[in-house]
Amino acid sequence: MTPETAHRFAVRVLGSGWAPQDRAQDDPSLGVQLWGHRLSSPIGLAAGFDKDAEAIEGLFGIGFSWVEVGSVTPKPQPGNPRPRFFHLPEDSAIINRYGFPSRGAHIVLSHLRSYLAKYPPSSAPDRILAVNLGKNKSSPPDDISDFINGVRTFGPLSDVLVINVSSPNTPGLRGLQNRGMLEELLAEVIKTRNGLAERKDGWKWAKPKIVLKIAPDLDKAELEDVAEVVKASGVDGVIVSNTTIQRPSSLISAASHEQGGLSGPPLYPLSLKAFRTLRSLLPPSIPLIGCGGITTGRDALEFAEAGATLVQVYTAFGYDGVGFPRRIKDQLQHELTAGGKTWEEISKGGAERFGAKPLRAEDAEDVLKNEGKAFLQDVENLEKVLVELDQDISSALSELEQGSQPEARERDPSGHPEAHGVSESTIAHSTTEPALLEPTSDAESASISATGDVPITLAPVKPADDSCEAEAEIATAAAATGDVKTI
Ligand SMILES: Cc1cc2nc3c(=O)[nH]c(=O)nc-3n(C[C@H](O)[C@H](O)[C@H](O)COP(=O)(O)O)c2cc1C
Repeated sequence: MTPETAHRFAVRVLGSGWAPQDRAQDDPSLGVQLWGHRLSSPIGLAAGFDKDAEAIEGLFGIGFSWVEVGSVTPKPQPGNPRPRFFHLPEDSAIINRYGFPSRGAHIVLSHLRSYLAKYPPSSAPDRILAVNLGKNKSSPPDDISDFINGVRTFGPLSDVLVINVSSPNTPGLRGLQNRGMLEELLAEVIKTRNGLAERKDGWKWAKPKIVLKIAPDLDKAELEDVAEVVKASGVDGVIVSNTTIQRPSSLISAASHEQGGLSGPPLYPLSLKAFRTLRSLLPPSIPLIGCGGITTGRDALEFAEAGATLVQVYTAFGYDGVGFPRRIKDQLQHELTAGGKTWEEISKGGAERFGAKPLRAEDAEDVLKNEGKAFLQDVENLEKVLVELDQDISSALSELEQGSQPEARERDPSGHPEAHGVSESTIAHSTTEPALLEPTSDAESASISATGDVPITLAPVKPADDSCEAEAEIATAAAATGDVKTI
């Protein structure tokens, strides 16, 4: 059996109603609040396993608290040519280049309706049903309408919509993580979600939550951009991460050269690193969901310590089978008991410790006081500069008058103090008028720069006759070049 056939078979079994059920109660230490709603455990199934929403009940039944179906594309599409799913057994990893095979929005919608008819939201308060939205390969790379249609179509029937801009197998999709595109995409997504009709009938939230799913391959600057856009857009949470296009040197399996997204344990350090970076850039109030290579209770706990509210798994479940959710929950419970803390205490503590810090009221007061002091100091400095400047101008005028205008001196026998700094100025004035300083425009007349320099611009004025050669030269040169300098 090829890995893809095995995958199809597993989905069929879980969708048949004959799959085993996890009837054990989750230990209270595993409980977690998400957007004000209580879940019995933080273990979710990541997207890509149940692409067409065929096995929702079976997947909740084996013990996942969050089941994410999709990625679903608006129109049906076959995905990439086979083979496109590769096991890396020595690395317990997978490489896939499925390229969003999807039966399309209509079929997936009908599957969701059937599930909800049987299990209305009021009957399943601790299950989160998420729909992961992708886009058709035939849609232009920068076109966001597939996502917007997805929000309209699936928003009324899901708890959470995941905006997947991070699968490596659809050309151009990851480009939507770039700041400009992401801003436009998320603004439209949120606007469309906000425009949906409010639901009652036992839904956890009147409108679906919007979660962004990102790649583990973004660098620090790109994650900073993502964080800014997430904060500005009002997105409700982020999943970190999808599969990676990197190939760690530790890989030993024969298929490790295959193209596509790598998942499983080799992804773990990359997704955890991206997670930690994004956690430090977003306030604790925005929940982050850890995903990527989580295989044991200890792995899950490490994400909680870094501030994850929930975690998701795929590859380890694929290798381990239907008993996996129970196994990882038991391991996690064991770790929590040993440490004497609940999941919620650890994950909240992590988010508060490592999340971006909001400004506290007492800190804000200090910041304002400091800024006020700095402002007063600036005003004082400015006053000093203006006084000096006044003296400089007076001195410069006085020097010019004394040096070259006996008549002017006669008219003003008191004279002026010595000029200084004149060499840096271009000052021209009429030989018949006392020191005419004429700004060329309002904007140029006086401007105070941010550094506290006070440049005064003085326009050249042509001398009326040749009697003052030096000044005439300066004035002519300045007039010719349009040069206007500052004192
Ligand atoms: C075969 C396969 C198909 C996947 N398909 C999707 C998908 O359609 N949409 C998506 O957002 N992620 C998809 N993923 C990524 C997973 O949801 C998850 O983010 C990734 O595999 C990392 O988690 P893991 O290491 O526990 O598998 C797929 C992963 C695998 C292995």
